[in-house]
Amino acid sequence: MGYKEIYQRYTQSIRAGTLKPGEKVPSIRVLAEDLGVAKKTVEAAYDILIGEGYLVSRGARGTLVNPELFIKKQPAETPQLVLEDKSLKHIIDLRDNKGYFRLGIPSLDEFPYKKWLLLSGKAIRAMRPEEMLNPPIMGHPPLRQAIANYLNISRGLNCKAEQIFITSGYKSSIALILQTLSVQNDKCIFEDPGYFFGQKLLKRIVHNLHYTPVDAQGLNVDYLLQHHHDAKFVITSPAHHSPLAVTLSLPRRQQLLQWAVQTKSWVIEDDYDGEFHYTKKVIPALKSQDTDDRVIYVGTFSKTIMPSMRVSYIVMPTELIGKFKETGEIIETSQPLLPQKILTLFLSEGHFFKHLKKMRALYQQRRMMVYSALDKVYPGLFAYEHTDGGMHIVVFLKQGVQDVQLAELWNSFNLQVFPLSSWYSQKNKRYGLVIGYTNIQSEQEAIAALSLAYKDTMALFALA
Ligand SMILES: Cc1ncc(COP(=O)(O)O)c(C=O)c1O
Repeated sequence: MGYKEIYQRYTQSIRAGTLKPGEKVPSIRVLAEDLGVAKKTVEAAYDILIGEGYLVSRGARGTLVNPELFIKKQPAETPQLVLEDKSLKHIIDLRDNKGYFRLGIPSLDEFPYKKWLLLSGKAIRAMRPEEMLNPPIMGHPPLRQAIANYLNISRGLNCKAEQIFITSGYKSSIALILQTLSVQNDKCIFEDPGYFFGQKLLKRIVHNLHYTPVDAQGLNVDYLLQHHHDAKFVITSPAHHSPLAVTLSLPRRQQLLQWAVQTKSWVIEDDYDGEFHYTKKVIPALKSQDTDDRVIYVGTFSKTIMPSMRVSYIVMPTELIGKFKETGEIIETSQPLLPQKILTLFLSEGHFFKHLKKMRALYQQRRMMVYSALDKVYPGLFAYEHTDGGMHIVVFLKQGVQDVQLAELWNSFNLQVFPLSSWYSQKNKRYGLVIGYTNIQSEQEAIAALSLAYKDTMALFALA
């Protein structure tokens, strides 16, 4: 490579705006080593760039792109997103957007940041040189132990640390389970309605996917037995169904477990927000009633701590630990160690229990604020079917089926609700909105936000 090419690379990057005025560039010696050329080749290029005013030399502070350069803003060349599945557009548009009623996000205003920072420092200081290698595939052993302890006390399980497999979220947990256990054409059952992202993922990775309806008692197990007795997997959210938030009743739990034992099938329990229950009726996990180890439990810290940490886990049936390990070694890259170490401290020093207790009380209040605000701003528009817990509510349209239009309208006012009907896979749908309340700080705030869309909402339902 000659000096001209180096010169051209710089002028192109500066003109395109990728290298910005004021940004530091590598020293002559470092760049020469990096490119494998003589120092004088880089020196020649830098001399011209400095001479023409692209770069300036600041002595000991190094060489910078001239801070006084004025680079005309290039029109952003954003490639057109072509989506085959149009329902994803709405999600992509909302993902980075701050708005009201976001779904499934913990209360960000009440997170114990100071404590987290303290524990982060502690975890970093405790890093040993050997911990800079790849972390174990199934997760950091002390975290696996801390999770097992927590689940046994709080969710009524009876599991050992060896059964915990740390993953990076729902999608990775489900994909790992199916990769480990499923063979082509195994029948897999999902709830209808069902978790939006679960539905998308399963449609993509499962060849033989079927649905079972959900009613006020949770998954309709009679329907399952009648139509899908031969299924190998059922993926369900028994504590608070996603999205209807109903709880799987005890008789149905027993029926489901009995079926799984008889047919040697697997129940995948998605306990994504089972920690948040607001009545005296504390609901143990389905896995706690599973005496025959037919339930594969899937948990997450996205709801209890923060989604950006990306730590979740599977509780593997004992007989499957070897199989999971083998599959994990082939298809997984282990999870980053540092977040696992911080989380271990948070759990084992008792902060997690305290945090959950505080959040439970807070969410209960915020949930009531949102119900009350909906009633005040839109009396008569929605019907409510109160449930025991979770981090969202579902409100049903009393009349009409325009939930998709209503959600689009509210989204345009930055109210980030979801239309219930789009969480259904089959024809028999209900209509309403799925609403997150965890980040609403007062009833006034909820009223003000909801009122933004009042006029247009009244017009949509011809109620004005
Ligand atoms: C139904 C359901 N399951 C699982 C999860 C957990 O997802 P993750 O652990 O990937 O953040 C969520 C999060 O929104 C959810 O709504």
